[in-house]
Amino acid sequence: MRKQIAAANWKMNLTIQEAVSLTEELISKPRKLSVRQEVVLGVPFPYLTTIKNMLSGTEGIFISAQNCSDRKNGAYTGEVSTEMLQSIGVTHVIIGHSERREYFQENNALLSEKVNRCLQTGLKPIFCCGEPLAVRDSGTEYKYVETQLEEGLFHLDAIQLTGFIIAYEPIWAIGTGKTATSDQAQQMHAFIRKVMSTKYGSIVAESISVLYGGSVKASNAAELFSQLDVDGGLVGGASLVASEFSAIIDNLKK
Ligand code: PGA
Repeated sequence: MRKQIAAANWKMNLTIQEAVSLTEELISKPRKLSVRQEVVLGVPFPYLTTIKNMLSGTEGIFISAQNCSDRKNGAYTGEVSTEMLQSIGVTHVIIGHSERREYFQENNALLSEKVNRCLQTGLKPIFCCGEPLAVRDSGTEYKYVETQLEEGLFHLDAIQLTGFIIAYEPIWAIGTGKTATSDQAQQMHAFIRKVMSTKYGSIVAESISVLYGGSVKASNAAELFSQLDVDGGLVGGASLVASEFSAIIDNLKK
């Protein structure tokens, strides 16, 4: 059975002190995750080791970077490689968040290289896709997302995609307070699974966790996560508040 995942994306927020208190509050509440549930914290680079150390002894909570370099190593000032991340115990990397695509001109070709780097280093990519408002308004959102999947992931083989994580984040719902309805989310998630199934077969497609992102909160998580093809969420704003994110975790399918 595929994993149900609550992934936090702290983005470029919090001081180290704030990040530590948030983590303390999050892990202070005893929580029994089922074998199919996982929590992933997407932490800014400078805090990865500190937060990782705080998580030792807590089961089912993993640590993720929010980006990585597409290069292996070398003279790339300011970049962070997957080997560096792997060497400090990071397990996941958010790849192709819409903010990276929009503000840092990351395209599908570059993102496919980043995915490769993650897989070669044993890190799990959380591959983001999703359409801007203009695309949804023009009614071409399915084609748009399909192209992101084709260009970002279709060079991989079935083994590499088994148990993979995709996050669908409609850009018009990110940080806007405007959530996709649970029907809109379910329809796109079912479509994503169909695209993966057509290319890789249903066993692979059924093993992929498809997370929803875009204004997920404690108050809408239950409704969104109850949808058949919604396997949890990638959460920005609400992941900065321990009580909100805890409630979101509690709403994952058991
Ligand atoms: P949001 O962000 O929850 O603040 O909308 C989600 C994301 O960008 O991953």
